[in-house]
Amino acid sequence: MPRLHPRLLHRARRQDPLLPLVLRGTRDLASAENELRWLKEFVTEQQKKFQSIQSWASQQNLRRLCLKRARGKPLQYIIGTEYFGDLEIACEPGVLIPRQETAASVTHLVKRLHNSGALPDHLKILDLCTGTGCIPLLASYEFMQKYSRKTGLQVLGVDVSPLALDLANRNLQRLCQDGELHFIPPRTCLHFLQGDVLAADDHKGDIPPLTTALHRHEGASGHHNPGSQWDILISNPPYISPQAFKHTTTRSVKRYEPKLALVPNSLDAKTHADNEIGDVFYPRLLDIAKQVEAKVVLFEVADLEQASRVAAMAHKQAIWTGIEIWRDDPAHRTSSEDTTTPTGVKILGTGNGRSVLLYRGDAEIWLRDPEK
Ligand SMILES: C[S@@+](CC[C@H](N)C(=O)[O-])C[C@H]1O[C@@H](n2cnc3c(N)ncnc32)[C@H](O)[C@@H]1O
Repeated sequence: MPRLHPRLLHRARRQDPLLPLVLRGTRDLASAENELRWLKEFVTEQQKKFQSIQSWASQQNLRRLCLKRARGKPLQYIIGTEYFGDLEIACEPGVLIPRQETAASVTHLVKRLHNSGALPDHLKILDLCTGTGCIPLLASYEFMQKYSRKTGLQVLGVDVSPLALDLANRNLQRLCQDGELHFIPPRTCLHFLQGDVLAADDHKGDIPPLTTALHRHEGASGHHNPGSQWDILISNPPYISPQAFKHTTTRSVKRYEPKLALVPNSLDAKTHADNEIGDVFYPRLLDIAKQVEAKVVLFEVADLEQASRVAAMAHKQAIWTGIEIWRDDPAHRTSSEDTTTPTGVKILGTGNGRSVLLYRGDAEIWLRDPEK
């Protein structure tokens, strides 16, 4: 990690005695200024909420939080939340912090589906590797609050981690209490459940394989078609290869965010190529997409190279009529950046390669561009 120049630290200290601490965590002044402002706002809100807190104690608390940031702890774990689209999502150590680029893909997908004006009365959305639950929560919010209250929604988030599921359920509860989300079961509902996406269907263990978990869920919720179909499958799975984790993942992410959420651990690094380990979730997710008869699939990926490999895997399945690669900001379309891979897959938006969209059947109409 590059050292901070004393002149920069001095400049920061002149602005605010606490700024050099935050700067040690952020490594750049503009981010440090923003983060210090948010930490101050957080402490002020705490003081307002718990009026017994004296202002000297608040100042001490602010310094304590800045020291944590200096040690590299992510701001989201310190203040306990992160914005994901329009929603404020609770974050806790042990569960991956939601990223803005993920939110941009989800928002763009829902907007494009809505814009077609051709959606059915009822949609089923399955999110695998759900973490804080940010994706199903935002997708539900976008559909129900922003667009059409008419569409019936059955949404399910699945994760292997009990810590993630506990947090996802608390996020759901809080957003409902705050009035951000308003489900009217059974027409609109969202659940979280534990399941292992990678485990074989006949695997016996404490954590059920995904298919068993889905069967139990559909059975318990009184649906007639256990295991059945899901219209939309979304997943942001662990996708970082061991070498990329070692060489390119930042120290703060390595130290504070759960490796379970970042690097797939089901293959032995001695006998498998690095890319193969990073990609391991995708063939399984594609099988699941076929099994549940998904019409739309959105997978997050690390970069354009991984996106191209995933697009090639999907192409081999020979069931998708549409395959697109989206960059970080898929909504921002500049024709100079809209391009294609060597195999002819469209790459849309601006920024780094971020996700792969697949569709077929009715979804060709759901995703059509009304302007074309
Ligand atoms: C990259 S994080 C994504 C979290 C969240 N969807 C988001 O976008 O912020 C991947 C998630 O996959 C979960 N996970 C890891 N292995 C899994 C498995 N075999 N089955 C199901 N979930 C798994 C982790 O617990 C983690 O929450």
